Amino acid sequence: MTTAGYQNLLHEEPEPGIHLLTMNRPKALNALNSATLAELACAITGLAADASARAVLITGAGAKAFVAGADIGEMQTLTPEAARTFSSKATRLFLELEALPMPVLALVNGYALGGGCELALACDWIVAADNAVFGQPEVGLGIPPGFGGSQRLPRRIAPGKALELLVTGRQVKADEAVAIGLANEVVAADALRARGIELALLIASKGPVAVRLVKEAWRRGQSLDLAQACAIESDLFALAFATADQSEGMRAFLEKRAPRFIGG
Ligand code: CAA
Repeated sequence: MTTAGYQNLLHEEPEPGIHLLTMNRPKALNALNSATLAELACAITGLAADASARAVLITGAGAKAFVAGADIGEMQTLTPEAARTFSSKATRLFLELEALPMPVLALVNGYALGGGCELALACDWIVAADNAVFGQPEVGLGIPPGFGGSQRLPRRIAPGKALELLVTGRQVKADEAVAIGLANEVVAADALRARGIELALLIASKGPVAVRLVKEAWRRGQSLDLAQACAIESDLFALAFATADQSEGMRAFLEKRAPRFIGG
């Protein structure tokens, strides 16, 4: 499937239920301008309502960049009020991205700087190509991050390491990104898409409701103390026992065969 009507975003479904969003302004290294953010918002709204969607992959067009940041040309003349609106809109969008019920993986091919690193951080995990470069270079432009980087980076990696990267603007290559817990794995650049689809298919082979419940428990629990978070897990565990997939998954195990999940 290719979604018609977008200028700066490609939306494909390379396998049933697997959605690949490609940020597509390669001449500007896929920099995020307002038009691109609006298209991403539209795609995310559609995915949020798509019960058949099993996993989402986000990547950048071209060999050089995932996303090289928010569009500096567009930001240059913003008034403080317009800057707040620009930041708030993107922040809402990235929160919606994070709240998608299915796993969302960033496939980082090349530069993921500023708003690009922030987009990757709003995904559930990052698979890095061997040419990936991450960084929050905003301080070099005289601004702090505006799409959540100062908040998500210290929640993803060690807070002191995050502050180091935020205040120095130092860029991190793929191997270091894995070493500090920013990316989960590194693959050859030409294998990135295939690896993303492989991971998405692995997710899609599991119980669809169970996968969504795991993500919900994981997400909601992160801001709670352990007892409250485990109470949420118990509620979601109980919900699973109202589904046919729970009966099927357990029956299949006992009958020594592969389960046939229906997503309900
Ligand atoms: N915004 C707008 N245009 C951008 C861009 C950006 N963030 N990043 C790259 N481009 C454009 C360049 O202006 C250039 O356009 P032209 O061909 O029309 O001149 C084109 O993309 C190719 O870029 P370069 O010629 O610079 O490519 P390079 O290989 O020499 O360098 C790079 C690559 C190191 C990524 C360099 O482009 C760069 O430093 N980009 C800016 C990175 C950055 O500072 N990002 C943070 C932006 S601020 C932000 O994101 C704030 C926030 O949190 C919301």
